[in-house]
Amino acid sequence: MIAALKMFYSTLGRKLVMALTGLFLAVFLLEHLYGNLQLYKMDGGLAFNEYGEFLVHNIVIRTVEFALFGGILLHVIDALFLTLHNRKARPVRYAVSHQAGNSTWFSRNMGLTGSIILVFLVIHLKTFFVTHRFQGVDTSMAQDVAVAFQSNWYAALYLFSMVLLGAHLNHGFQSAFQTLGWNNHRYMKPLKIVGTLFALLVTIGFGSFPIIFYFDLFGVASNILGQ
Ligand code: HEM
Repeated sequence: MIAALKMFYSTLGRKLVMALTGLFLAVFLLEHLYGNLQLYKMDGGLAFNEYGEFLVHNIVIRTVEFALFGGILLHVIDALFLTLHNRKARPVRYAVSHQAGNSTWFSRNMGLTGSIILVFLVIHLKTFFVTHRFQGVDTSMAQDVAVAFQSNWYAALYLFSMVLLGAHLNHGFQSAFQTLGWNNHRYMKPLKIVGTLFALLVTIGFGSFPIIFYFDLFGVASNILGQ
């Protein structure tokens, strides 16, 4: 037990927790994208609202939801710890040497992209999740999404955040597998490709909602709003 706790609080332990929670959150994103795609069914938002109802009333899903929020919390806390730890170990930041090798601006700034995604998440949860679950709002969730994306700043915030999320995942995916020990030549190249494809899927998939709703492309927004 003590050994497990020591491992958890060590740098390696925290990296492992970050990798595992990150991959768990990636699986959540696939489920969430599948749910959101119901918005495109041109059925006035019925399938999307039914899917949301199913999630709320399913006991297994409600339990997984606790794991989801726990996972987000652990991922953020460990990210903060590791960033501060790295700063302490190297108080003077390199001026130029980071520009070489495999490192990219995004791989060096996972803390920054992660923090912006966290701000997005807080706004996102406040708009849809908290209002319905805790403030007794009982409107059609599909209509709420359509109305939210009529706002310039809301649609722009989502689009910007989805690009950053893609960049965060592009590096995070391969980094997680590296931490889990899959860092030999044979695995790293395919993992890098899978990570990039996953990041593209998330950015294009989630990024399509603000664009399609804001411009009412294919009449999706009017169909849901009954116009
Ligand atoms: C851009 C497209 C997105 C749309 C239209 C969207 C829509 C929604 C809606 C309507 C809910 C409320 C579900 C309910 O309470 O029944 C929700 C919940 C949630 N969203 Fe999103 N979402 C989007 C992107 C994202 C992204 C990129 C993330 C993560 C980075 C995310 C994380 C969450 C979480 C954690 C919840 C609460 C848990 C849950 O209900 O499953 N969402 N989203």
